[in-house]
Amino acid sequence: MVGRIKISSLAILASLACFGPAGASPADQPWLDPNLPPETRAHSAVAAMSLDEKLRLVFGYSDQALTDVSKVPDDIVSPELKTYIVTHLVKGSAGFVPGVPRLGIPDQTQTDASMGVRNSFIPSTALPSSLATAASFDPDVPRAGGAMIGAEARATGHNTMLSGGINLAREPRNGRNFEYAGEDPLLAGAMVGALIDGIQSNRIVSTIKHYAVNDQETLRTSLDVTISAEAMRQSDLLAFELAIEKGSPGSVMCSYNLINGRWGCENDYLLNTVLKHDWGYKGFVMSDWGAVHSTVGAANGGLDQFTGFCCVTDKPWFAPPAMKAALASGAIPQKRLDDMVERILWALFDKGPVDNPVKVTPIDYAANAAVSQKAAEESLVLLKNEGSLLPLRRVKSIAVIGGNADKGVLAGAGSSDVTPVGGAVMIDNHTYLPSPPLDALKRELSKAKISFDSGSDIASAAELAGRADVAIVFLNQHLSEGSDHALELTGNQDALVAAVAKANPKTIVVAETGGAIYMPWADQVPAILEAFYPGIRGGAAIARILTGKVNPSGHLPISFPASPDQLARKEIAGLGQPDGTPAEVAYDEGAAIGYKWYDLKGYKPLWAFGHGLSYTRFTLSNLEARPDGKGVRATLSIRNSGKRAGKGVAQLYVAPSDWRAFGWEAPKRLGAFAKAGLKPGESKRIELIVDPRLLATYEAAGNNWHIKAGTYRLMLGDASDGEMTVADVTLPDSVWSASKTIEP
Ligand code: BGC
Repeated sequence: MVGRIKISSLAILASLACFGPAGASPADQPWLDPNLPPETRAHSAVAAMSLDEKLRLVFGYSDQALTDVSKVPDDIVSPELKTYIVTHLVKGSAGFVPGVPRLGIPDQTQTDASMGVRNSFIPSTALPSSLATAASFDPDVPRAGGAMIGAEARATGHNTMLSGGINLAREPRNGRNFEYAGEDPLLAGAMVGALIDGIQSNRIVSTIKHYAVNDQETLRTSLDVTISAEAMRQSDLLAFELAIEKGSPGSVMCSYNLINGRWGCENDYLLNTVLKHDWGYKGFVMSDWGAVHSTVGAANGGLDQFTGFCCVTDKPWFAPPAMKAALASGAIPQKRLDDMVERILWALFDKGPVDNPVKVTPIDYAANAAVSQKAAEESLVLLKNEGSLLPLRRVKSIAVIGGNADKGVLAGAGSSDVTPVGGAVMIDNHTYLPSPPLDALKRELSKAKISFDSGSDIASAAELAGRADVAIVFLNQHLSEGSDHALELTGNQDALVAAVAKANPKTIVVAETGGAIYMPWADQVPAILEAFYPGIRGGAAIARILTGKVNPSGHLPISFPASPDQLARKEIAGLGQPDGTPAEVAYDEGAAIGYKWYDLKGYKPLWAFGHGLSYTRFTLSNLEARPDGKGVRATLSIRNSGKRAGKGVAQLYVAPSDWRAFGWEAPKRLGAFAKAGLKPGESKRIELIVDPRLLATYEAAGNNWHIKAGTYRLMLGDASDGEMTVADVTLPDSVWSASKTIEP
């Protein structure tokens, strides 16, 4: 049973609350005065610090330092610091940056990641994958999830979450797509911004990552991505920009790859020009673990904190000897070091860890699991439901087949891997969360005869299916950090669906996938539920949707290609080559990612971005639009014209009258969206604002956004390929700086 569990083994972490030397008062230490602005506090704290204290804050350690830092030479990590690290680091966490107890500056205790606290010694509540929660099309879902996982981070002694993955699903085979929020910059920005906002509501720091264009895992540490500034600003960078505006993360994690010939963690253009100058970002840039390649280049290129050092084999780029030499020679100006430290401190003051030290407290895991279940129930996507086969009604017998549905639901792997409450079920080296859909279905349909077949023998599965009223086939696609994955399902899964569908025409497929897959059998089955990685109560959420306790309301945050020839790249760059091999990829599709690419090419995907069915029907109408500032204000009506309560999603796409002449990357973009819960017969009037950047193109020459004068069509629908209600609006020419530090 899951209940209130006290983590006594973490009691030692209470010592993390070592703030402000005894007797210190705000008068002696003005930076500890919570009434002062964070900028002032950070500035005065830096002024009080010695060089060695400053250098402590810019050099972080990984969990492995616990065992390995002792072997590192003393001039790199002093004996005092080694002792401090091994006594203060939260065992099993991702990283640690020693604080400055003399000044009341706390240690930074860092944990991965976007689906929950990852600490192999601490059970945590796993949210559905971030791709799943993006499918909710409702920022309140990731915000509630973020508030929950952030509370668990705080209660387990972590004051920094490495959460907020937002790389766009430019490459559908990217092994980390499940950690990200889909292919559209507006949707991803809104969802990840809300996740960060929720996490930081716990007065801890959250990190947005991986900055930037780290859109494939193959050769991720040696891949050089070529992409124009225009394309980046309208795609990957726009997602970051919007999420940073909405969520205000305390830090940004720079990525492993090179972008236009420069490493992510020393990319002057991305870090200094775009992030810090143009966006006016006040927080700090931390490196991904092992992503630093120099001292001077990285510090001057915009990196503020080296993170993840552990061992004698690591290059200590930001350790005291290297930093002191660079400062002494003037290669790194003293004021740059002060800026690095001030940015780190700004985040610690502004987001809360200084004034609200974390301490270990009990966690209400049952309540937190309910948050995760609700997130799944808002997010799973009903792709197909011919003849209203779902929800299941009056079924006497069900054959549940495959996918280890008797054991649990699949989770993704890598640094986001949560040690679930109740323990992980490991099958073929893949993590399953202990929420078996089979058990949940039995609970929901207690009168039905429900049998299970593992699906390993296709003939026996088909035979069982043939004897049941309904068959439900569970499919799995395992994704993990560090490698990319085929969109073809592994093993016998495609053949299994085809055989079961032949044996029983009432076959429902439930796909637990990290991202898109090919579905060669899609025409042969009447119903398909995309369950993504549905989290710690995924089985319950699946069963409640299949049985109609919950009306599905998720819509796809990614396109599902129909076949390999629809992909922008035939092969993943560098596939099959050993790690570290230098490789290049040119992102010639630019900002035309996902549905934009399909529209541009005239391809019909298997399932389009934004697609998602409900057990009721929604009617969208009365679209009106007018210019509002530089953007557009639209109002629309949404009505539940069916017989069940449900949640409908209004998607407003925008397009100029002649998109090519206007220099757009594709025929249309998502301009705004909203989700509304409606009872049968109920309707609502909704107002949506289209951000001017979504009506503009970015012009690198003047560093401007530019909306060209003309007619813009607004298209209202419930999928990117669905029927649209349209309204036109005429906009004047407007040009404004992409730099927020310059007055418009
Ligand atoms: C991942 C990051 C993660 C870090 C610390 C890296 O390998 O790319 O996302 O936060 O490890 O675990």
